[in-house]
Amino acid sequence: MAPRTTLMPPLLHMTRTRSVLPLISRVGTALAAVLALALLPGCNKLHQVFSLSGPQSTMLSEGPVARAQWDLFMVTVYVTMFIFVIVGAVLAYAQIKFRAKSEADEHAEAAAEAGHGNPFVEIGLIAGSVALLVIIAIPTLKDIWYTYDVPKADVDSGNTMEVTATGYQWWFKFEYPAEMVKLPTGGEAPLATGNEVVVPAGVAVRVNLRTVDVIHSFWIPKLAGKVDMMPNRANHLWFKAEKPGYFYGQCAEYCGESHAVMRFRVIALKPSDYAKWLENQKNGARTATAQVIAAEAEAPHVQFASMKDVGPHSTLAGSVEFDADPFAFWQKMQTTDKGEDAAHIAAGRKLFQDKTCITCHTVRGHEGIGITGPELTHVGARSTIAAGVLENTPDRLHQWLTDPNYFKPGNKMYNGGYVDVASGQHKFTLTGEEIDSIVAYLRSLK
Ligand code: CUA
Repeated sequence: MAPRTTLMPPLLHMTRTRSVLPLISRVGTALAAVLALALLPGCNKLHQVFSLSGPQSTMLSEGPVARAQWDLFMVTVYVTMFIFVIVGAVLAYAQIKFRAKSEADEHAEAAAEAGHGNPFVEIGLIAGSVALLVIIAIPTLKDIWYTYDVPKADVDSGNTMEVTATGYQWWFKFEYPAEMVKLPTGGEAPLATGNEVVVPAGVAVRVNLRTVDVIHSFWIPKLAGKVDMMPNRANHLWFKAEKPGYFYGQCAEYCGESHAVMRFRVIALKPSDYAKWLENQKNGARTATAQVIAAEAEAPHVQFASMKDVGPHSTLAGSVEFDADPFAFWQKMQTTDKGEDAAHIAAGRKLFQDKTCITCHTVRGHEGIGITGPELTHVGARSTIAAGVLENTPDRLHQWLTDPNYFKPGNKMYNGGYVDVASGQHKFTLTGEEIDSIVAYLRSLK
């Protein structure tokens, strides 16, 4: 036998288990320290990171579809954990039992003829693997059927409704095909809203998934998903929110530069509150004249019974309150702002025409007729703007209108609306006071 030491550089001996373990432990400690430091600035969210309880956690499902998906995920986790433990145990056993016990063992040649195993063991392993795959396959197939469409029981009892969600770069349009409204241009169309879809809790909602441009993907982590919105293909999914609540949604398919900020919300209401919401949505835009403001001071425009539960939230201060309870924030948004100024609002409405906002946005009952951007008839009653990225406060709305490209790079309101894409020239400018007026107008659209 040739003396191996001349062929093997001494370094290879250092890769043996004995010397590597302390290295791994040192590197591991250093990595953990760096990670901890990196996470420190986000301390207020750390509990969400470690408990995995964030607003888009799939682990805290609040509807039957998401729960079925989570349960199926756990079945695969249990099966793969089982495989990991068995294979790991056999591997550890072999490593310890057949390790080199002496210098002679280290330099020994491998046996000339290795064993060919035991046919019973091999067939047993194949049968075991097939059995494990079947254990995963049964609930998988069951859930493919279950999540595909609204269950028959809900259809038979009429406990179902339909919504059409359409992906745009980068926002979501929601339409209610059963609720027709008069269009400013004449004719009728399904009631439409942008980025926030309101549904009754406990009702199975079938969502038709469409896109006008590229492939997007529709995902409400706590309720259902993900299904792609594909050009020339009519996909759908369904979900049911078990209780009233406020749910975060997200585009889950890379669709261009602002994919990460293409979000939406699902607001589930008690059926009686939903009926009130729907009635108000079907109305045209609110015109906040001095008389209307005075009359509404006595009788709020929309009032939900469940708003009594809103609790200590008495102002719409912004992100602090929003984070504390986004559902309460949304409910507050249904009422008109205190101290509305009719002249200010009227000036904003005029600017909304003069600055050509009306060519891209619909405001039913007012001048807006465009369909390129989200429908804004009741935008003042939404909890978020800019496809779920900013809370709908006067400050945020002001910042959004000042520099939309900062919040949503590549968006069409800026690139094409504010600025001519070909020449790079501004089509118009907005002063701070003008934006204030437009904000007042948009907020009056409850
Ligand atoms: Cu739309 Cu990603």
